Amino acid sequence: MENFLKIIYNVNKGRENIKVKEIELIKKAREPIIKWYQENKRELPWRKEKNPYHIWLSEIMLQQTRIEAVKQYYKRFLEELPNIQDLAEVEEEKLLKLWEGLGYYNRARNLKKAAQIIQEKYQGQMPKNYSQLIELPGIGEYTAGAISSIAYDEPQPAVDGNVLRVISRLIGSKKDVLDSKTKKEMTQNLKEIMPKQAGDFNQGLMELGECICMPNGEPLCEQCPLQEMCVAKNKNLTAEIPVRNAKIKRKKEEKTVFLLEFENKIAIRKREQTGLLANMYEFPNIDKKVETKEIDTVLKSWGLVGKDIKK
Ligand code: ADE
Ligand code: SF4
Repeated sequence: MENFLKIIYNVNKGRENIKVKEIELIKKAREPIIKWYQENKRELPWRKEKNPYHIWLSEIMLQQTRIEAVKQYYKRFLEELPNIQDLAEVEEEKLLKLWEGLGYYNRARNLKKAAQIIQEKYQGQMPKNYSQLIELPGIGEYTAGAISSIAYDEPQPAVDGNVLRVISRLIGSKKDVLDSKTKKEMTQNLKEIMPKQAGDFNQGLMELGECICMPNGEPLCEQCPLQEMCVAKNKNLTAEIPVRNAKIKRKKEEKTVFLLEFENKIAIRKREQTGLLANMYEFPNIDKKVETKEIDTVLKSWGLVGKDIKK
């Protein structure tokens, strides 16, 4: 029994030691990351000044599309809605038009909802700390961490896919980055060592992940400020890390979509107010695959008679 206890004790002690080592490594990486970021950061529209509204908008847009694509959306959005009050008062149709093509339209709706709360509860001023930010619709741990660190240098981590990859490689961690436990643990570890320049540190990690320690193909370790201390680089593990195990369950749906043409116009309809792509326009369609000869029945159910039907 005593031996057994000793083994458990040693195992736990071993784990603690690994954790301490990992945290020490991240600590050592802080300065080089911040310095590299300050010398190499790209000029992006939302980096010009630390406007929390701009940073918020850019972070939400960046969750869906690459930086290059976001730039145009971002510019147009702020031309139409230059401040939080404009966003709070915008009509849904106009808002969705500004978001068109970005996808996940509830993110746009949540921006507006949050703007309304900011108007009512904070006199139109963006809240200045993590715990108030995370209460707003559409703002989760990542976004609250990003805004509070980038705009106000509050020492909060902001762990996205880039950060997960860079840190996993740096410490040589083979934990599954698609497992939410891994993300939680990394956030917790980073919380313990956040530097004063929290915004530059977080953005440095993201920027490294986008420009140097990239997801597809080989990372550009020769240009990386962490190359000497990086476990993945030094043990030749960059092809294996990050580990991505969790399977993405994809739902497949069969549909028949109708292009109904009448007098040079094509019919569209508005979707339901809730659910996927709520309130968006679409071509009329049904939730199954039908053969050409069954088409008449479907059209009839809509009060239509078809002519010249083509597959
Ligand atoms: N990706 C998401 N947010 C970012 C930021 N602030 N800087 C660089 N890359 C990002
Ligand atoms: Fe990534 Fe290579 Fe830098 Fe390590 S040395 S963090 S693998 S780019």
